[in-house]
Parts: sequence; C-alpha cells; structure tokens
Amino acid sequence: MAEVVAETERLRLRTWDDASKAEFARVTNTPAVMRWLGGVADLDKLAAAFDRLDQYQTDFGHTFWAVERKSDGALLGFCGLKRVNSPGGEALHGTFEIGWRLREDAWGQGYAKEAAIASMDLAFDHYGASHVVALTVPGNRDSQGLMRRLGMIRREDLDFVDERFPLPSELNLTIVHRIDAADWPAARAKALA
Ligand SMILES: CC(C)(COP(=O)(O)OP(=O)(O)OC[C@H]1O[C@@H](n2cnc3c(N)ncnc32)[C@H](O)[C@@H]1OP(=O)(O)O)[C@@H](O)C(=O)NCCC(=O)NCCS
Repeated sequence: MAEVVAETERLRLRTWDDASKAEFARVTNTPAVMRWLGGVADLDKLAAAFDRLDQYQTDFGHTFWAVERKSDGALLGFCGLKRVNSPGGEALHGTFEIGWRLREDAWGQGYAKEAAIASMDLAFDHYGASHVVALTVPGNRDSQGLMRRLGMIRREDLDFVDERFPLPSELNLTIVHRIDAADWPAARAKALA
C-alpha cells in the first residue's frame, strides 16, 4: 500500500503502487518530458526504471516518490531522493541526489519547486544528509533553473561523463549542482519568497 512521505500545501509525495506506475508512464513517457532523458522509453526500459525506484525505497527508505495533487488526486510525476549511482560518477556514489520529472501540463505552476523543497527538507531534517546534489545535462535549462532556484550551486569540478551514454552526445556531460545542509535554511527561505 502506498505510504505518504510528505505533504505540502498542494501536493502529496508518496511511495509507488502499480496503478501510479501505470499512470506515471501514461502522463510522463512523452517526447517533451523525456527530451533530455533519452527519449520516450519502451516497456522494458520503463519496467527497469520502476524496479530501480522500488529498490531505492527498499535500500535507503527513500526514492523518487510519486507526486500527487491533493485537489483532484492527479498523478503529476515524481520528485524525491536517491543516491548517486551513475556509472562514471563514482566520486559521487552514495551522495544524496534530488530529482524531478513532471507531466508537461503541470509545468510552470511551481509544483516541482514545492515538491523539491519538501524533498530537500526530508534530506536534511529526516535523513541527515550533509549535502545534496542534482544531476542533469547542459541542455536541460529548466531543470538547471529549478536547481538554482533552490539555491544549489553549479560545481563544474564534480561533473562527469556517464558511461551509459555515447560520447560525444547531448546527453553527456553530466553536470552537477550541490547544496550543503548549512546553506539550506537560507536557500529555502529565498526559494519561498
Ligand atoms: C524540470 C521540471 C521538473 C521543472 O518543472 P517546472 O514546472 O518548470 O517547475 P516549477 O514551476 O516548480 O518552477 C521551478 C523554478 O525554476 C525556475 N525555472 C524553471 N525553468 C527555468 C529556466 N529555463 N530558466 C530559469 N529558471 C527556470 C522557475 O522560474 C521556478 O522558479 P519560480 O517559482 O521562482 O518561478 C520540468 O521541466 C520537467 O519535468 N522536465 C522534464 C523532465 C526532466 O527533464 N527532469 C529533470 C531531469 S535532470
């Protein structure tokens, strides 16, 4: 049964069940949403991705959780915490990683920021993270905009080449933003202002 891990003004973050996985695939496995994530995924790739999300929850007690809108129960996407495990990013392996993916018709309404603030709160206040990173590719300006809006700092010294993707490619390099626990209270207040 799905368990609610955080509640915000407009959203619930919760663990996955089969129905929400199917709905997530329906609303987010689209060309626009998957633009910087390797394109629309086939069924095998989707199933493997859901297995990984379940495994993170089992291993760490956190994952990229389902994001549900409270007003109508709509599944908007995911947001949450995993640990860096990208092949090629060994220097960061084990570090708390925040991530997000929302359906296109939910973009631009502050939902991702709202879910990300709740996830960041959990990382620092509940899971005791000393710092959190976010990973993306140079072209994903929207994701980088959210990272900066959360007060995360671009750390070129931590960038790496993800061995899963061909080089040269627009999906390589993996670029890193980071925020430390001590900086989160002020960054949080600024993100909410
Ligand atoms: C990344 C994503 C979650 C952002 O969603 P969103 O709906 O734009 O997020 P929000 O409305 O909560 O806005 C987040 C903040 O970042 C800012 N932001 C968003 N895009 C930006 C951009 N291109 N440049 C600068 N800032 C930007 C917004 O201004 C907003 O701050 P505000 O509240 O002060 O206005 C969404 O675009 C998405 O799901 N993309 C597809 C999946 C994906 O690529 N995931 C990330 C993989 S690394």
